[in-house]
Amino acid sequence: MKLTIKIIVRYVSVIIMLPLTLLYLILKSFMDSDALFSSFSQLISLLPGQVGSYLRIGFYRITMLSCHPNIVISFATLFSQCDTEIGEGVYIGPQSNIGKCKIEPNCLLGSGVHVMSGKFQHFFSDLDTPIKEQGGKYTQITIGEDSWIGNGALIMANIGRHCIIGAGSVVIDDVEDYSIVAGNPAKLIKKRR
Ligand SMILES: CC(C)(COP(=O)(O)OP(=O)(O)OC[C@H]1O[C@@H](n2cnc3c(N)ncnc32)[C@H](O)[C@@H]1OP(=O)(O)O)[C@@H](O)C(=O)NCCC(=O)NCCS
Repeated sequence: MKLTIKIIVRYVSVIIMLPLTLLYLILKSFMDSDALFSSFSQLISLLPGQVGSYLRIGFYRITMLSCHPNIVISFATLFSQCDTEIGEGVYIGPQSNIGKCKIEPNCLLGSGVHVMSGKFQHFFSDLDTPIKEQGGKYTQITIGEDSWIGNGALIMANIGRHCIIGAGSVVIDDVEDYSIVAGNPAKLIKKRR
């Protein structure tokens, strides 16, 4: 019964968000899609509570590369890239900032987690050109299934499956499956098996 109600609420959310979703899809055909996606994400991030989460998912199910309906996206969480993938059972805490990434099933992201699109959004080798004019590279980051990212962590590299990332950690190198890492830069504390 509870599951049936949830499924109905999810479909209703898609319908409620449809005018906004259609507006996004129309504008996308003649505007930079990531800048547009980011603007819409900022707008809908302000919808509060559980209802806000359902409504956000109603929008992202259609506009993201892939977004499972059975997830939670908390208040004030921003996405900057539409080619983001979110698997079943994922929880994303409030005030998180999510770049180009794939979040595999059952991951938990605490509050204020930043997942950046790699480390090199700006190249900086040419000293005679402002950094903002040197271009950059956006890399997709993967967060492996069943990983838990603590509050305020900054993620710039891939996280394996079943990992734990300590609160406030700065992850600059790929993390192997079943690792617990923490600190700045994040170092291995122990393995879970
Ligand atoms: C990582 C964590 C799960 C603890 O794991 P643990 O295996 O029990 O680790 P321990 O407490 O035994 O600590 C082991 C070492 O790591 C260090 N450490 C633990 N957490 C750390 C963190 N977040 N940042 C830096 N170092 C950390 C400890 O100081 C200790 O160092 P030492 O061996 O030099 O004394 C926990 O500290 C943490 O960060 N949890 C996230 C909490 C959170 O964000 N909750 C809200 C979101 S749901």
